[in-house]
Amino acid sequence: MKMDEQIRSMREQIEAAAAAITDSREMHQLRKQYLDNKTGLISALMKNMRDLSPEERPAFGKIVNELKTWALEFFTAQDARLKAAELAAKNASEQIDVTMPASAHCCGALHPNTLIANELIDIFAGMGFTVFEGPEIENDYYNFTALNTPKDHPARDMQDTFYVSPELLLRTQTSAGQIRVMENTKPPIKILSPGKVFRSDDDATHSPMFSQMEGLVVDKGITLCDLQGMLDVFAARVFGEGVRTRLRPSYFPFTEPSVEVDVSCFSCGGKGCRLCKDTGWIEVLGAGMVNRKVLENCGIDPDVYTGFAFGMGIERIAMLKYGIPNIKMLFESDVRVLTQFRG
Ligand code: PHE
Repeated sequence: MKMDEQIRSMREQIEAAAAAITDSREMHQLRKQYLDNKTGLISALMKNMRDLSPEERPAFGKIVNELKTWALEFFTAQDARLKAAELAAKNASEQIDVTMPASAHCCGALHPNTLIANELIDIFAGMGFTVFEGPEIENDYYNFTALNTPKDHPARDMQDTFYVSPELLLRTQTSAGQIRVMENTKPPIKILSPGKVFRSDDDATHSPMFSQMEGLVVDKGITLCDLQGMLDVFAARVFGEGVRTRLRPSYFPFTEPSVEVDVSCFSCGGKGCRLCKDTGWIEVLGAGMVNRKVLENCGIDPDVYTGFAFGMGIERIAMLKYGIPNIKMLFESDVRVLTQFRG
């Protein structure tokens, strides 16, 4: 009868231990502790049979088997109970209140520079231009010398240059890309070259890093009229129908003749206002006919081919078009500023 007691107390132990458990994984551990075929405490009882007399053995075997059957059912029931409770808790925690107001998702916006660059590419691509992007670190030859600006040329002072080494520099103008294209392409050439440029210059309208958009056309019979015709399309598309262009004589070493291009003031229509400083005109870019020497430097015969080039500051166009007073606002990444522009 000692055996009976042992069995009964084991059953009580199981029930007491199970009552304290609220987690199905822990219950599984408890199940293993008693029912594991090798190490389980119930299996261990069977081994005790060896110590019994042959007469006692059948009765003992029977009650241990009953205990085992009971334990199997008990643990199955416990497992079902705990799993059901766990599922209910999980469902409750995942419940969604469909009446809650939706949280606002704010959409990203393109940077004003990107908007302008995309707009320009769109306009000129419509006229047959393709995009070429040159490197930001240039050598002296492409940025200056090949553009008819040799080492001691006074025009080098027009752009305060960041040098990386005596021969390497951060490009001061996307015009460097003109040479890279003309060296490798036979006319007709019609490219647009956007990119960052660098100059040691810093005030409300100048930043040491800014972006330019270069244009270059080389073919037989290209004239200044072709340049102005294309710029008229550009001015009307970017600043509005009715905006006209005006060419003023200027100087760049790589164009001859060179011009500054003004657009009629899109704010006052040309009558005179604060934006155009009462002149009716706003300067937007530099341009000109590609200098014969530059064509020669690239192996293009200037007696057969002519071309025009233009270069504009993208930030300047963005500031004019969106009324941005300080160029730094375009680089400070203040979302309160940037989210105002959506093209
Ligand atoms: N590269 C000139 C500048 O940065 C602009 C320009 C480009 C002028 C092409 C003429 C032709 O000031």
